[in-house]
Amino acid sequence: MAITRRELLRTAGVVAGVAAIPANAATPAGPAAPSPPGTAAPGPTELFDVPDFERAAKGQMSPMAWDYLTGAAADELTLRWNHEAYERLRLKPRVLIDVSKIDTRVQLLGRELPFPILLAPAAYHRLFHAEGELGVARGAGAINATMVVSTTATTTIEDIAAVATGPLWFQLYVQSDRGFTRELVRRAEAAGCQALVITVDTPVLGPRYRELRGKFSLPPGIERANLKGLAAATGSHRPTEQSMYSAMLDPTVTWRDIDWLRSLTKLPVLLKGILNPDDADRAAQAGVAGILVSNHGARNLDTAPATIDALPLVVAKVAGRVPVLVDGGIRRGTDILKALALGANAVLIGRPYLFGLAAQGAPGVTRVVNILRRELEMAMALTGRTNIASIDASVIWR
Ligand code: FNR
Repeated sequence: MAITRRELLRTAGVVAGVAAIPANAATPAGPAAPSPPGTAAPGPTELFDVPDFERAAKGQMSPMAWDYLTGAAADELTLRWNHEAYERLRLKPRVLIDVSKIDTRVQLLGRELPFPILLAPAAYHRLFHAEGELGVARGAGAINATMVVSTTATTTIEDIAAVATGPLWFQLYVQSDRGFTRELVRRAEAAGCQALVITVDTPVLGPRYRELRGKFSLPPGIERANLKGLAAATGSHRPTEQSMYSAMLDPTVTWRDIDWLRSLTKLPVLLKGILNPDDADRAAQAGVAGILVSNHGARNLDTAPATIDALPLVVAKVAGRVPVLVDGGIRRGTDILKALALGANAVLIGRPYLFGLAAQGAPGVTRVVNILRRELEMAMALTGRTNIASIDASVIWR
């Protein structure tokens, strides 16, 4: 999206439409008692960046939901690395370039996006705000951001599509019942989804101790709406110490299933959860339309590398055959600039938009994406890059 110099000069550009931290939001003294999601009254404090939204979100949900949202696997080392790896990369400014116009548009899968930020699939949005996925769809639609709807959404893909004004993609967890899986793909197509994202990094869950300690379970009335009718998957998501396999994750899925899925649909098929460059090579050979470098927000295999560390290796191996996207740990526009510099065609954010949803509902989703977009525009201007194509590895300080 092109912006004018005047717009860029507006303080941080993220001030317009600022809403307030709910009165019961976390304070420096510690979190206040949570109220039911999405019900708190606005308070006096303004939210300017993603960390502000994170603090505000914490006060808006139960400790169980907070642990589910922010937790990761085992010692959560990969969770930390996802952030630290971005912090370690430094940017190289460039001066005396006309940056009066900044253009963040990108082409992806034959379509134009106004900016290279998509909303990653995440389960159970209604845990975080009463509007749940509908709020995310409305918030994303307001700025034409692409929302990737999770198989484990708490609202059906049809109901989400009914309110969505922006593009939707569908994320698929292949089900043991392949007939049901085929039906899910058909439903996503019928709902107008533009791409199918198959998550391939979760044959089993990782050891998520915060979920165990917090006795995670879906509250009454919150369910996996897309999986209704599938006996194995309608039970409450309740991790136990003994369980490794999950009824709704098929551990037998292999490359043959990817071929099968590609034969089922005309939608572009992307694989999400690739870190190993050899897997990326195989995926490109298998004819997928794109690769998402992801470690599932560090929720599965702890001590897997930060995604931004894996990205350049994947990009080198893929060698331009298919687009490469990345998620994990993105909290700043500068993070997005670094990901693009290291070869990503676009990025996805997970927890940040859920912080926006929890803090302010649909407008909070819009604002979080706008904040990141504006931070990206500023970082581009300060490194002398006026469009996405001009962002390359020379923007990284080496
Ligand atoms: C996820 N993620 C995820 N991925 C997926 O393919 N299907 C899913 O249903 C979910 N569910 C989910 C729930 C929650 C609460 C989180 C935080 C994450 C992973 C998600 O798509 C993405 O890879 C990460 O969230 C990206 O990392 P950040 O941006 O959260 O750091």
